[in-house]
Amino acid sequence: MDVGGKRVIVRADLNVSFREDGAISDDFRLKAFLPTLRTLQSRDAITLVFSHLGRPDGKRVERFALKPVAEKLSELLGKDILFIDETVGKKASAAAQNAKPGDIIVFENLRFNPGEESNDSSFARELSELGELYVDDAFGVCHRAHASVVGLPKLLPSAAGMLLVREIATLTALRDNPERPLTVILGGAKISTKLPIVKHMLPRTDALCLGGALANTVLKAKGFHVGRSMIEESMVEQMKELVQDGKKLHLPKDVVVAQEALANAVVRTCLTGEVHEQEMMLDIGPKTAEEFMEIAQKSRTVFWNGPLGWTEIPAFAKGTEYVARRLGDIEGFTVVGGGDIVAALANMRLLDKFKFISTGGGAMLEFLAGKELPGVAALTQ
Ligand code: 3PG
Repeated sequence: MDVGGKRVIVRADLNVSFREDGAISDDFRLKAFLPTLRTLQSRDAITLVFSHLGRPDGKRVERFALKPVAEKLSELLGKDILFIDETVGKKASAAAQNAKPGDIIVFENLRFNPGEESNDSSFARELSELGELYVDDAFGVCHRAHASVVGLPKLLPSAAGMLLVREIATLTALRDNPERPLTVILGGAKISTKLPIVKHMLPRTDALCLGGALANTVLKAKGFHVGRSMIEESMVEQMKELVQDGKKLHLPKDVVVAQEALANAVVRTCLTGEVHEQEMMLDIGPKTAEEFMEIAQKSRTVFWNGPLGWTEIPAFAKGTEYVARRLGDIEGFTVVGGGDIVAALANMRLLDKFKFISTGGGAMLEFLAGKELPGVAALTQ
């Protein structure tokens, strides 16, 4: 689009997490948005940035105010960014109207207004009146049919931002035509949320390595004693099918166990079949981590989603850390995505070891499971 001198509404996903002291714990999504921001500024657009932060449920909640995020974005960009503590209204319109080519404004959290999540058409119209063009660069929220995601492209000439294009291109290649062998490593809490990906991608996957609490449910379906480990009881029957046709499936052979998921818990490593009644499986063991790496090393593509242990506690983060370090050295194309694993890897300072890091959580999972994302569909209709 010819954006010079035009007011361009940009939907970004600036939904970052914060530490207890109020500092932003992971600025990865902000950095991923910079190319679009720089391009618009260098082409003399008036850039009006909108995002959500957290789930404030349609009302103003101070801890979800976007001001600190706008400040961090400005610091990363190395240029001034104006923040307006209103999403739509007189102040927001005046700021948009008075801005000059090259200016960037970040507006208040979209979700402080109930019309955002209910995809209210008058809220979308009010938003649209602030700008002349629309750019969607918020891959992470493309699975939500919200006003700023699906309403705005109906009202303004629209385009995909550079981050959105990169996400769709990379994840489409991974989903439909990966360079093989492809290894998929899945961790995290629930097998139910990952099953759609497993089903969709299994025909093109050469090895599926499972860790984290979701592997516990599959181990139970295989007949292992899981003690007090976190499992999804309702999924055990369904998992029996997956383990029956288990040629591609790699489950933990050894595990790190403790009676409590606490930093000072007594920890031991044992074979998967040797978990005591009072114990919980909280991480993959070293033999499993080594096996996963041997498989990954022979792969041309590796996709990883979800931590392989309870990574908030260092004693149960070792499996995830070992796999992350070693994946950094392999030649194949490595893709990692999902809020929890990205946060864990950022914490370990290992995020830059991956060749592609998706900014999507739920959006990425739905895309790789073959679903059409409303935000992408809205741009192409
Ligand atoms: C995410 O963090 O996955 C996106 O920002 C979407 O957030 P949501 O799950 O609150 O819609």
